[in-house]
Amino acid sequence: MPSYDRSVALWEEAKRHLAGGVSSNVRYASAPVPLFFARGEGARLYDVDGNVHIDYILGNGPAILGHAPPAVLKAVAESLADGQVFAAQHERELALAQALTRLIPGAELVRFATSGTEAVHMAFRIARAFTGRRKIVKFEGHYHGWTDQTYISVRPSLNEAGPASEPVAVPESPGMAPGALDDVLVLGWNDLAAVEALFARHGGDIAGVIMEPVMVNGGVIAPAAGYIEGVQRLCTAHGALFICDEVITGFRLGLGGAQGRFGLKPDLSIFAKAVAGGFPLALVAGRRDVMEILLTRNVMHGGTYNGNVQSMAAALAALALLEHDGGAAYRDMERCGTRLMQGLAELGRKHRLPILVQGFPAIFQTFFTTAAAPRHYRESAACDRDMAAAFSRALQEEGIRVNQRSAWFLSTAHDTAVIDETLSAADRAMARLHS
Ligand SMILES: Cc1ncc(COP(=O)(O)O)c(C=O)c1O
Repeated sequence: MPSYDRSVALWEEAKRHLAGGVSSNVRYASAPVPLFFARGEGARLYDVDGNVHIDYILGNGPAILGHAPPAVLKAVAESLADGQVFAAQHERELALAQALTRLIPGAELVRFATSGTEAVHMAFRIARAFTGRRKIVKFEGHYHGWTDQTYISVRPSLNEAGPASEPVAVPESPGMAPGALDDVLVLGWNDLAAVEALFARHGGDIAGVIMEPVMVNGGVIAPAAGYIEGVQRLCTAHGALFICDEVITGFRLGLGGAQGRFGLKPDLSIFAKAVAGGFPLALVAGRRDVMEILLTRNVMHGGTYNGNVQSMAAALAALALLEHDGGAAYRDMERCGTRLMQGLAELGRKHRLPILVQGFPAIFQTFFTTAAAPRHYRESAACDRDMAAAFSRALQEEGIRVNQRSAWFLSTAHDTAVIDETLSAADRAMARLHS
């Protein structure tokens, strides 16, 4: 059994100085305490107690090239000689905007921000200013950041969430402005008829519909065939904007994100995480006529650190690696991720555990259920979360780091040897679940 004594001691000390001992509440979801890490390299993280973790959390997604990727670090190190933040334009920023408008199908123009949360906030403001309407539609189980208008019905308890046909908008944190809920409409995902009915009732008020094109945060679930296209058609018919939150799927499901993979062209989309290989960067991408209102109507978007030198340098280097050899990195990730998904499913059968492996090779989830594959949040919430958490803990004891709900992020550093080591550890972890 690994020891976490030093992490426990540091956590006790941290709570004396750092509110809650962490810098993001998401980090509470770690056992036995939020762990302290000394360093990361490739697919591995090294904690302060000397435990080595093959990391499938990857900073919640950004480290798509693994930890400390040499080419990205070199580009960032070189950029330091030029300065860090100008709060003004520079050529690396322009070069990155050129690359992104070339790679992202829906990106006629982009605007940089620093975190996904604020980029979503910018997208909402643009959508409201462009349409002159107030309401945003979001879906249960989809996470778009922690602001008052997004941290709604992300993981609602089914007691509070109301009927599936007409979900109640559930605020997920104390302290949220109650008025924020007035302009957000919540629906169950993957149900086109529900979107159609909502537009029939509120069409003239809806500024935009936002979704994760693959619902990753509420269980890794793909859209039903034709669903996203149907939602976008309804948006267009009713004069609302279709907003695709690609904070996780962007540069993970391929160079064009989910929109490239599914053949979509959203009106607005939000990218962050993998785009800069682990450095802080987010952006809104979208239609020229929509994005131009930042200038033509002076729709306010600011941010001191937006376009900072190091994030631009990191993203340029990361994209060069991801684009290299016609996207060979993605082909390798698909191959290794598929090997891992199939291996985990096989191990589940071997250990007679009701494990369902669902998602994409670069991001998938292991559910514990005997039911059919979940299609939306309520079905994913009905899977056995306690078993998923127990599996994550057992994996951690075997040196494999996945998040509490057993979602697995891959990086280009997770090669065949790492996958096979992971499968041996998962074999032992599954055996442990029976004991
Ligand atoms: C889909 C999605 N959107 C938005 C966000 C918010 O991004 P950030 O944590 O950079 O504010 C996240 C974060 O996990 C996310 O997964």
